[in-house]
Amino acid sequence: MAKLTIHDMNVRGKRVLLRVDYNCPLDENGKVSDDSRIRATLPTLKYILDNKGKLVLMTHLGRPKGVDEKLRLDPVAERLEQLLERPVKKLTDCVGPEVEKAVTKMKEGEIFLLENLRFHPGEEGNEDAFARKLAILGEVYVNDAFGASHRAHASVVGVGRYLKAGAGLCMKKEIEGLGKLVETPEKPFVVILGGAKVSDKIPVIENLLNRAQVLLVGGAMAYTFLKAQGKEVGGSKVEYDRLDTATNLLRRAEQRKVEVLLPVDHLVADKIDPKARIRIEVGQIPEGWIGVDLGPKTVRAFEEKIATAKSVLWNGPMGIFEYAKFAMGTQAVAKALAKSQAFRVVGGGDTAAAVYKFGLADQMSHVSTGGGASLEFFEGKDLPGVAALSNR
Ligand code: 3PG
Repeated sequence: MAKLTIHDMNVRGKRVLLRVDYNCPLDENGKVSDDSRIRATLPTLKYILDNKGKLVLMTHLGRPKGVDEKLRLDPVAERLEQLLERPVKKLTDCVGPEVEKAVTKMKEGEIFLLENLRFHPGEEGNEDAFARKLAILGEVYVNDAFGASHRAHASVVGVGRYLKAGAGLCMKKEIEGLGKLVETPEKPFVVILGGAKVSDKIPVIENLLNRAQVLLVGGAMAYTFLKAQGKEVGGSKVEYDRLDTATNLLRRAEQRKVEVLLPVDHLVADKIDPKARIRIEVGQIPEGWIGVDLGPKTVRAFEEKIATAKSVLWNGPMGIFEYAKFAMGTQAVAKALAKSQAFRVVGGGDTAAAVYKFGLADQMSHVSTGGGASLEFFEGKDLPGVAALSNR
């Protein structure tokens, strides 16, 4: 990797200011309900602790405007303690004289978690004074927050003006894993896209049409493509203002000889509800029915394409997998990927949640921790947090 990584840095006896992305969902009791982002950073934390560093962790949680009691990081500290089986001290702020005093007294092997960075407007505003206040808390700066690397915020970009910035092991794995697909994917490269909206994925499709040989489209976004082809889709979700875009993307795929597979049959429901009536419709969807998942023929066609792939990127669920009744298509794609010998990457967010839910995450080559960040990476954009890492 052209960028400095933690392996190039001497952390012995030093305070390591480590940006992580512990923006984890919380349940109704305020506990972390999905700790995959915390787990993804454990190798970096362990590396620093094994090499006798002191850990000063910083993260955001949610999108508070000022201090929000519900978004304090105590539940995150609690989960991290359980995973590390070591004490984690959560501070009550992330900058200021008291925080500075506390960190200067740190002993080797100690772990501090600073309070939610977004309680201060200087974080999102990437204010220099705020970045400097963060930077003095560490002697070495490591960024392991790939999920936040599309944000040009003080803890992601600004601190790098004061301290050399090295990539943590999660960040390194993300850059290498996603980078391999975007830059030099082994052919055939199959891209599987799903999720609710075409509009969210237009730049990704445009970028990947230059690289992929096959594009499989599922999820609600498929209905916009089908509608653009003049098919009836009943009450399925369609972005009517994107029909032209969908037509153009299909035309461009044809020009570039990218094979596009849209669903040929559908699981349809009379309402979006776990108790809905369901049935399979081949071809078009009649009035009064909503497409909620792939049909079995489509699943077989997708499985066949996945089986021939050498590289696969999957972003976006194939149906409303949160309801068991509508999860078959998403689960089948996850299983087909688990079986495949290809280099297979799952882009974060809902798709990552799906493979964790099905217990198949450890059978993928890489599951990204990034939602928005992984999408922007696949769009071919330079992420500010990656660009701000020091060169070797
Ligand atoms: C994410 O969850 O995608 C990251 O933590 C970034 O969060 P944000 O979209 O609130 O900046």
